[in-house]
Amino acid sequence: MAELFTLTSVHVEYPTPTGPVPAVEDVTFEVPAAGLTVLAGPSGSGKSTLLRVMGLIDRHTSGTLTLDGADVGPLSHRRRRAIRRDRIAMVFQSPPDNLIGHLTVGGNLRAAAQSAGRGGAPDILDWLGIPGTKCWKVSALSGGQQQRLAFGCALAREPGVVLADEPTSQLDSASAHLVLDVIDRLVARGVPVVAASHDDELIDRADHVVRLHEGRLA
Ligand SMILES: Nc1ncnc2c1ncn2[C@@H]1O[C@H](COP(=O)(O)OP(=O)(O)OP(=O)(O)O)[C@@H](O)[C@H]1O
Ligand SMILES: [Mg+2]
Repeated sequence: MAELFTLTSVHVEYPTPTGPVPAVEDVTFEVPAAGLTVLAGPSGSGKSTLLRVMGLIDRHTSGTLTLDGADVGPLSHRRRRAIRRDRIAMVFQSPPDNLIGHLTVGGNLRAAAQSAGRGGAPDILDWLGIPGTKCWKVSALSGGQQQRLAFGCALAREPGVVLADEPTSQLDSASAHLVLDVIDRLVARGVPVVAASHDDELIDRADHVVRLHEGRLA
């Protein structure tokens, strides 16, 4: 199986008033081009940092990151933004952060498709388990329903990968299960998903687990 991402001796530092602080140190792992990969580890272990680096939001300080075999570290800001738009969908922890509040459910799916230059939004509300909500404002949906819609918007972008940061951590267990089922179905459709999480249920469903501790592989 070809690798989607390869990280080789990746270091990430954040600038702070007292000097650079290491967040990730000498991390090497691969993410296969299919299945659910979970970055697991306690708070502060570097999960979100690595997700932001793989999402081409933040740059690593040293080491190598490849996406589909191409070294994306040295690319210009403009080139990285184009790859982000064409290839990557992100889902964050807080459901409202993933959606446009003044648009309807259908409007959010359309906007997501357009933001990636895709033609049409798929009719996937049944698939997401929120049938009949196309004309609803997103604020009328529960947190769990919003998070399922967020994954629907990710799918509407027809991405090469979905990166999700703690996608179930703000949900009760029943809502979290429905979100996990949507993630399973995305993966079954052939979309690789990389999630940062300490949710044991999500880790149990993973095809690959990368365990981190204090910025290093555990
Ligand atoms: N913007 C920042 N500036 C300085 N240090 C940061 C910044 N963001 C993260 N860090 C530090 O980097 C380390 C890794 O943080 P990160 O957010 O990646 O961890 P995490 O595993 O996602 O934790 P959590 O489970 O709490 O979300 C921590 O020590 C954190 O304090
Ligand atoms: Mg985090």
